[in-house]
Amino acid sequence: MAFMNVTEVLQFVDQLVFERTGKHLDDVQKAVIEGSYKGQTYHEIAENNHFNKSHVGEIGGELWKFLSTTLGEDIKKTNVRSTFERLQITALPIIIQNNNKQNNNHTFNFSVLNSDQAIQKYQEKDTDTKSQSVYHDLTLAPQIIKFHNRETELQTLSKWILNQNISLISVLGLSGIGKTTLSRKFIDLNLDKFEVIIWKSLKYPQSLNSLITDLLNTYQQKYEETLQANLKQLFDILIQKRCLIILDNIETIFTNGQFAGQYQPEYLDYQKFFKMITEINHQSSVMLISQEKCPEMNCLYQQLNLSQCLELSGLNDINILDNIGLKNQDSWLQLIQIYEGNATYLKDIVILIQDVYDGEVTEFLAENSLIITQNMQSHFHDLFNRLSAIEKQIILELSKLNQPISRDDLKQNLSLSSVEFVKGLQSLQQRYLVTKIKEDKILFKLSPVFRQYVIITGATGSP
Ligand SMILES: Nc1ncnc2c1ncn2[C@@H]1O[C@H](COP(=O)(O)OP(=O)(O)O)[C@@H](O)[C@H]1O
Ligand SMILES: [Mg+2]
Repeated sequence: MAFMNVTEVLQFVDQLVFERTGKHLDDVQKAVIEGSYKGQTYHEIAENNHFNKSHVGEIGGELWKFLSTTLGEDIKKTNVRSTFERLQITALPIIIQNNNKQNNNHTFNFSVLNSDQAIQKYQEKDTDTKSQSVYHDLTLAPQIIKFHNRETELQTLSKWILNQNISLISVLGLSGIGKTTLSRKFIDLNLDKFEVIIWKSLKYPQSLNSLITDLLNTYQQKYEETLQANLKQLFDILIQKRCLIILDNIETIFTNGQFAGQYQPEYLDYQKFFKMITEINHQSSVMLISQEKCPEMNCLYQQLNLSQCLELSGLNDINILDNIGLKNQDSWLQLIQIYEGNATYLKDIVILIQDVYDGEVTEFLAENSLIITQNMQSHFHDLFNRLSAIEKQIILELSKLNQPISRDDLKQNLSLSSVEFVKGLQSLQQRYLVTKIKEDKILFKLSPVFRQYVIITGATGSP
């Protein structure tokens, strides 16, 4: 779990005090908070900082009183750390308001908005260049409620981002497989490694210029008229500071009805931008999260140290079904495998098993049919509509088979030119609908859940 570190706690308390009193924390107050957070006695705090012991105690008493009333929690020297750790992971009462962008003074906003996705955001702008300024904006990053497994993936991301300093990292995979959650988890574990962290979602796509001005704006920089000038400003920041910029839902800038990863004409700038991230020398990382892979997300051998991609597969871990009232634990793994370890499909199915089978997983499995819920159906409908005509043909052919097939066998059953076939097959893999299996020979397999959808919709893809 991501606990606030002492710097974050100091910033947070400073913000609260400043709001109420118009003054920032002084050195004694800072030392008291820092020391208490580290478990030091007042005596130790006084000694370490050459302050008078009784003054330190007095200031401490005042601070805990202030924090207790402001936060509505009983805060004492002995529980300050545990309280902040708890507050970090549960949604706090709403504190704080707008961010005053005109204000050039030291402003630091911490807010926890209790909405359907509990949102945390804090910002700091410090005009004193000597003091370390940290800026994290995770407003649009969904909060993690449960997190299991993914140890290897977290290690991989750490290696690429923290050790090898790779500029462009893509986290790829089917919708619902856990890309956003994994990326958010990585950030929570590594908040202190970056001076700037900004999370943006392209769920509602926007032009590159508008995204960049948005980035500059949240980072409280003035922005210019032209994309060129704004890019220059952004790269200046990426060069000067260790930043992590996360762009989620990149697939929205790609075209429907064509092969995977083709930019829509109005978003072609993004292609240049992604290239620039790997070409320009800077100390930051940009993470792209997408259901579709585009050429810029490929990790070519010669560019290994510039760009990497992590392709997620399902979670094969029964813990993801923990504590939700399901019975017959021995059958959970089988259920997870049927639904390809996709936490989103599983969420739906769990509800169905609870409603209809009263949580009895074995009874559900005994039906022996792969059920596609309404939610899945509408999601697959959108996904099917994103496919090109060639891909649809390949999918329809694959849906007739209940086992993997070799490339040659598949091709024989289709009336496609070699080029069309090869491109279509590649594109389906770039959407993670078809996977390549390496056994004695190489075989291709359609996602079983998607296959079921194609079958029940009468091989037309529409309900
Ligand atoms: N490692 C995990 N442990 C537990 N639940 C997870 C995990 N990864 C994802 N989930 C759950 O699965 C759902 C989909 O995850 P998400 O990250 O939004 O997928 P994606 O971004 O790939 O569409 C979320 O509700 C999330 O809570
Ligand atoms: Mg996501």
